[in-house]
Amino acid sequence: MVKVLFVCLGNICRSPMAEAVFASQVVQAGLQHLIFTDSAGTANYHPGERPDHRTLKVLKLQGIQTPHLARQIQPADFTESDYIIAMDRQNLMDLERVAERHPGPTARLELMGAYCPEVPERGVPDPYYDDLAAFELVYNMLKPACQALLEHIRQDVLSAAAQS
Ligand code: 4NP
Repeated sequence: MVKVLFVCLGNICRSPMAEAVFASQVVQAGLQHLIFTDSAGTANYHPGERPDHRTLKVLKLQGIQTPHLARQIQPADFTESDYIIAMDRQNLMDLERVAERHPGPTARLELMGAYCPEVPERGVPDPYYDDLAAFELVYNMLKPACQALLEHIRQDVLSAAAQS
């Protein structure tokens, strides 16, 4: 099983959207038995909360649902995940700092845009203080970025299977 953890700041806007979009693509690809998807925040601002209503609205327009409840990243995530995907550069720096304090992290830490030119250099912008259009923009970045990530993981899984 490949475990993919998406991470943003609050875990109510971007990363739960990425988790839900990616999970729906995994199901479409018939890979749900191989890839497990989750999300978390670097901060503990909204523990146990449902995603922001604007994230849910954008997902609903695409026919995507999510059961996610917000949570903060924890040390075990760095050893239990295969990929930890940060939404922006600040998230990535915060993750690297936490990873340094906990020896033996095995997860790959990467930016959401690592495989996708649709995401700007600084990452997926935080839409929390913005309007619904900002959430739609986030969705339009996440969709191709998740697809590119899935393709990358599929190649990884296939080459690992070929070697074993
Ligand atoms: P997210 O957005 O990191 O995409 O979930 C935010 C959500 C909440 C806050 C900031 C960003 N906040 O300050 O509460």
